[in-house]
Amino acid sequence: MRIIEVKDYKAMSKKAAETILEKVRTNPAIILGLATGNTPAGTYANLIEDHKTNQISYKQVTTFNLDEYIGLAGDNPNSYRYFMNDILFNHLDVEMSGTHIPRGDTKGIQEECQLYEQLIENYGGIDLQILGLGSNGHIGFNEPGTPFDSKTHIVNLTDSTRKANASFFDKQENVPFQAITMGIATIMRSKEILLLISGDKKKEAVDRLLHGDIDESFPASVLKRHPDVTIIADEAALAKA
Ligand code: GLP
Repeated sequence: MRIIEVKDYKAMSKKAAETILEKVRTNPAIILGLATGNTPAGTYANLIEDHKTNQISYKQVTTFNLDEYIGLAGDNPNSYRYFMNDILFNHLDVEMSGTHIPRGDTKGIQEECQLYEQLIENYGGIDLQILGLGSNGHIGFNEPGTPFDSKTHIVNLTDSTRKANASFFDKQENVPFQAITMGIATIMRSKEILLLISGDKKKEAVDRLLHGDIDESFPASVLKRHPDVTIIADEAALAKA
């Protein structure tokens, strides 16, 4: 894993956007894996800013998001589909049909998992996967204990994850209890991974990621087995490492 240390959230967002832009310029039909949460929001804002001035086209780009809450339809403001449209897709010239997010509002969730996994395969896999890091080491919604060979699956969210994500909802009770997420094996099949980490709240997780064992009790530790991972982390996140 390569580590790029930057000053703060702003610098992380800028560096991450530059990295993504460079890849899109080289491969305009790139398959991008995208993440939600506060961490990549600034990166997406930078991509939008760049799009306004440089007019890099995203028409041929395909995207796959990591996860979605179960029970929320795409027009629910708390769904990740809504979040991604609002924060990124609606501001680029991306073809909406080329943006994929697991459906959380279908009755056949089990089937949706298989279809999503298959769709990624059909596209030949993800070229560049953007990841955030949960404070308990989760990636996507793969909570501690998730098998490293897992594919897209249904998860029960831990209390700590529901609490951490509650700020996006009116009340914590409204945070769904389950989600659909790419599995750890799905993420690991990406050709390249960009892990973004910012802030004091992540410093213990970063310490464990860099110095701890590779173990299913800390999902992100699997990334040490991937041949092409870049971490962009800010000073606060690296404070303990
Ligand atoms: C959520 C998302 C993850 C994200 C994590 C960290 O659980 N499913 O993909 O990486 O939160 O969120 P944040 O970036 O807001 O700290």
